[in-house]
This record gives sequence, structure tokens and C-alpha cells, in this order.
Amino acid sequence: MANLSTLSALGRRLEGKVALITGGSTGIGETTAKLFSKHGAKVAIADVQDELGQSVIKQIGPSNSTYIHCDVTNEDDVRNAVDKTVSAYGKLDIMFNNAGIANQPKPRIIDNEKQDFERVMAVNVTGVFLGMKHAARVMIPARSGTIISSASLASGMGGAATHAYTCSKHAVVGLTRNLAIELGQYGIRVNCLSPYALATDLSKKYLGLDDEGVEQVMRSIANLKGTTLKAGDVANAALFLASDEASYVSGQNLFIDGGFGIFNSAMQVFKESPQS
Ligand SMILES: NC(=O)c1ccc[n+]([C@@H]2O[C@H](COP(=O)([O-])OP(=O)(O)OC[C@H]3O[C@@H](n4cnc5c(N)ncnc54)[C@H](O)[C@@H]3O)[C@@H](O)[C@H]2O)c1
Repeated sequence: MANLSTLSALGRRLEGKVALITGGSTGIGETTAKLFSKHGAKVAIADVQDELGQSVIKQIGPSNSTYIHCDVTNEDDVRNAVDKTVSAYGKLDIMFNNAGIANQPKPRIIDNEKQDFERVMAVNVTGVFLGMKHAARVMIPARSGTIISSASLASGMGGAATHAYTCSKHAVVGLTRNLAIELGQYGIRVNCLSPYALATDLSKKYLGLDDEGVEQVMRSIANLKGTTLKAGDVANAALFLASDEASYVSGQNLFIDGGFGIFNSAMQVFKESPQS
């Protein structure tokens, strides 16, 4: 039978680790910051929503967490966020490049403005690139660490989001794969997460719906029935990738989509009709 110390080690899967989470003031990042902290990690949150970020730190506890103002499109900010995390906690084990935005849905490319496209690319791609670069800067000398980024269901299929958003999330997968190859020699793992839509500020604004509205729409078209995707489900996947349980997992895009992305509706004929 496991003794008490083994049980606590099993229960706290990030004991002694240090994590930096971009976009941690709300949504998936906030939930992940709280979960990582519950599992024993020291957590730094980097975001542009300072008041919300500070209130997350209050909830987690200021002795285990810190807030750093950081616009992920600004290299000085990202460099500073990484350096402050290392100076506060001595190292960086986990970098979660999670900050992201969506633009207003305009299905026809001819209606899309260059500046909207570039803004999405700046946050979702350049922001991830900078997070990866500066995490690598401190992880390579330590010869350890794990880098996780937020991609999306839209990283693996067309037609699920705007042109800019889809393009940006495909790019996150490209960066993840390239960096996993580069950093494997140092024992650093690099992966990304691809959730189906869930109710957060981003999706509510995108769909023009409230929490229940987003969840209802997404449940109605989901492949996996009887459940609703929540931020906690994404945080649990991030916890797995961050933990030693994923010690040989690198270069992967982990879909948290209940199988939505692999279904081709042309194959509907092989699907049993739902039981009432
Ligand atoms: N909600 C979904 O349905 C969904 C699905 C798949 C993937 N994602 C991805 O998950 C990630 C988190 O999104 P969320 O749904 O929690 O959204 P959210 O809007 O709740 O959180 C995003 C956070 O990123 C921050 N942010 C935005 N621009 C920033 C910048 N320039 N610098 C620093 N921080 C910035 C925001 O302030 C916010 O705190 C994003 O990358 C998003 O694309 C979301």
C-alpha cells in the first residue's frame, strides 16, 4: 500500500516546478494556473489584463504566484516575463504559451482586412514564437523543461474559424513540431493543445453568445455526447503534458475535441442513429 508521502507525491504532480502562463488572467489560462498551483507548482501569470491577473494571484496566494504585465507581441515584455519568473523562483520548468485572440468572423476572404489578419497572427503566432524563444533561452542551459502552446481544433481542419485564426493555429503546430526537433537534444519537450470550442471570453465574443449559449451550440454539434467541454478539461490536458507522466511525449498536437476533428460527415452512413 502506498504510504502518505507517496500519496502526496502522486496527488501533486508538479511539486517543485515553476510555470509561466501567458494569457492567465481569464479562461483556460486562469483555470490552468489554479490547477498547476494546486499540484504544487509556483506560477507566474503574464497578461495584458492587469486587474484580472492580480485577482487570480490573490486567489492562488501571492506566496506561490506572481503577476507580470506582458504583451506577448512585444519581445521586451516576453523577455522580461521569463527573466522575472526565473528571478522569483530560480528556474523555469513549464512555459505555457496560451495567450490568444480571435477576430470577427467574416467568412468571405474579400471582406477581411489585412490589419485584422496581422493582429491575430501577431498575438497567436509571433506571441507563441517569442514565448518559445525566451523559454528556450533559459531551458537550454538547464537542459530540461517543457513548452506547451494553445492551438485549437482549427489547427487541424478548415472551416472551423476565421481565415486568420485557422492560419495562426496551423502555424502553432508548425512551430511546435520544429522546436520539438530542435530542443529534443536538450531533453526539452514541446507540445500543443487543440481544444474544441468552450465558453470563455474569446468564444463568447466570437459567437456573440453567453456561457450557456456557447455551450448549447457546441453540445448540439459535438461528436461526444453527454458532456460539455470546460476549461478544466483543457487544464487537465495541460497538466498531463507539463507533468513527468508525459516524459516521452514531444512534438504532439493533443486534440481535446471529443473526436470532432476526425469525423467526416460523408461517413454518416456508418454512424448509428442516436438512441433516445
Ligand atoms: N475558448 C475556446 O473555445 C478555445 C478553443 C480552442 C483554443 N483556444 C485557445 O486557447 C487560448 C486561451 O483562450 P481562452 O478561450 O481562454 O480566451 P480568453 O479570452 O478567456 O483568454 C485569453 C487571455 O489572453 C490574454 N491576451 C490576449 N492578447 C494578449 C497579448 N497580446 N498579450 C498577453 N496576453 C494577451 C487575454 O487578456 C486573456 O486573459 C487561446 O490561444 C485560444 O485561441 C480557445
